[in-house]
Amino acid sequence: MLKVGFIGWRGMVGSVLMERMQAEDDFHGFESFFFSTSQAGKPAPQLGLHEPLVQDATNINLLAQMDIIVSCQGGTYTQAYFGRLRKAGWKGYWIDAASTLRMEPDSVIVLDPVNRQVIEKALAKGIKEYIGGNCTVSLMLMALGGLFANDLIEWMTSMTYQAASGAGAQNMRELVAQMAAIGNGCAELLSQPSTAIAELDRRVSQIVTSRQFPIDRFGAPLAASLIPWIDRPMDTGQTREEWKGYVETNKILDRTDNPIPIDGLCVRIGAMRCHSQAFTIKLKKDVATKEIEQLLASHNRWVQVLPDEKEITLAKLSPAAVSGTLEVPIGRIRKLNMGPCYLTAFSVGDQLLWGAAEPLRRVLRIIRDYLEG
Ligand code: HSE
Repeated sequence: MLKVGFIGWRGMVGSVLMERMQAEDDFHGFESFFFSTSQAGKPAPQLGLHEPLVQDATNINLLAQMDIIVSCQGGTYTQAYFGRLRKAGWKGYWIDAASTLRMEPDSVIVLDPVNRQVIEKALAKGIKEYIGGNCTVSLMLMALGGLFANDLIEWMTSMTYQAASGAGAQNMRELVAQMAAIGNGCAELLSQPSTAIAELDRRVSQIVTSRQFPIDRFGAPLAASLIPWIDRPMDTGQTREEWKGYVETNKILDRTDNPIPIDGLCVRIGAMRCHSQAFTIKLKKDVATKEIEQLLASHNRWVQVLPDEKEITLAKLSPAAVSGTLEVPIGRIRKLNMGPCYLTAFSVGDQLLWGAAEPLRRVLRIIRDYLEG
């Protein structure tokens, strides 16, 4: 029976992965081993056929007994242990949420509704590293898969509106703490209907720029504001998040030798866990909007094409509506004034589900099916 080791299952992405695996009844037909860098020896979660105690995630000999390892522990862990495991002769499959190995020549970025064939080809070739993609990239491809599959995109931009969760659990807390500071600081003024709006506005400004306002994680106010910078600068002039849009998309689609130009600005906004994106797409040819909607809708069962109407847009095309679901709605689809080959659309997706845990859960199934024939 296959042995599958899980590392980082208590963190934010890891716990969403555990929830999804339980919801889909995935803990069957293999032995699960739960590893930790700090909890070794404590009771392991009661899931499926499992080793009763948490194992030591820093012990190469224990890790090397696994057929498959799923890591949500983060890039620092991958950096420290993956190479050592391979050096020790470990030949197992490595599934990882971190970006460390994504652009390695011998790894595949996994998003099976979009690149199932690339994954299957890699398995047949003996590739052993299967890495989850950047959340914005995966959510963009889930929404626009129908256009990519039909090779209709000449170039595109994605202007993002990214949630706090992409920066980490502590950042989500900080966003709520910022909201609370504003709410508490304005409560009295807000309770008086006669308060002049200029006064309320001044109060918000004072709060978000005051020294006490909690900005340790983000480095700037996010509530009642936004931050047009995500991750570190690259030599290209992009931020690393913007750079990933181009390189990861083309790697996922296995077209690094014939890449589609993709670029845009990535912006952090005060949503909790859903990333949104506004696209400008230059089509290779003039395709009717109705036909585009059909191509998008038929690509996978999670994309939800919405009519370009106010009521449904307000009801369904927002982080508030999508949070915690696997649906990837895309709406505001229309041709731009620039001409019949210029299309715009807006999409929202849960950053922790299709943006992180779901592709990992699914590739674990695909690898198990492959190994078990
Ligand atoms: N880098 C992304 C963000 C999340 O900061 O929102 C992980 O893919």
